[in-house]
Amino acid sequence: MALIAPSLLSANFSALARDCDMVNRSEADWFHLDVMDGVFVPNISFGFPVIEAIRGHARKPLDVHLMIVRPDSYIRRFREAGADQLTVHYEACTHLHRTLEAIRGESMKAGVAINPHTPVQLLGDILYLVDIVCVMSVNPGYGGQRFIEHTYEKITALKELIGKKGSRTLIEVDGGVDTSNAARLVQAGADVLVAGNAVFSAPDPPRVISELRQARTAMA
Ligand code: DX5
Ligand code: ZN
Repeated sequence: MALIAPSLLSANFSALARDCDMVNRSEADWFHLDVMDGVFVPNISFGFPVIEAIRGHARKPLDVHLMIVRPDSYIRRFREAGADQLTVHYEACTHLHRTLEAIRGESMKAGVAINPHTPVQLLGDILYLVDIVCVMSVNPGYGGQRFIEHTYEKITALKELIGKKGSRTLIEVDGGVDTSNAARLVQAGADVLVAGNAVFSAPDPPRVISELRQARTAMA
């Protein structure tokens, strides 16, 4: 059984309170919020005012995924906006160790996201400071993209690395996750599934969340 983090990027922004309530009432575990700056990724999403608005409605932790350059400048600001967990991109951080310490220093869980081309082995010397590794299973920037199959191998290798290092790091998978690949992802070692399009474009979103959550059972 995996934790489920619906990505609000696919929510209806003119009915955000309603969509937050749906997530509150569902079996979802976290709210996943995607912040894009138009520099690190070729898209711009939302920033502090929207996160604050979601914080006002959400009754579950806010898992904030920063697809931005220079995240260090805004760590405290994201905490103040309501983030409980802050994930930065490996590819955007020259001094990742310092960044992760700063995130933890603001009493947030620290996450590192890796793009599809970034090998999991590069995290070996930093895992002890990482609460969550977000394995990108699409190139970040947009919801609704096609899942990259190579992700399974990366999850298996990362699970092994985490075991070898003895850390308690969770593996989160982000991009193109749906009920067709969830069970295999969990079996490969995923602890958290992010799903945007699969949840919010479904006729019955809470049901999809529930199915994703039971994914391991479905394959057994
Ligand atoms: C992509 C974002 C994802 C996205 C996932 O850059 O990081 O969180 O919202 O959306 P789906 O599940 O639609 O691929
Ligand atoms: Zn994301």
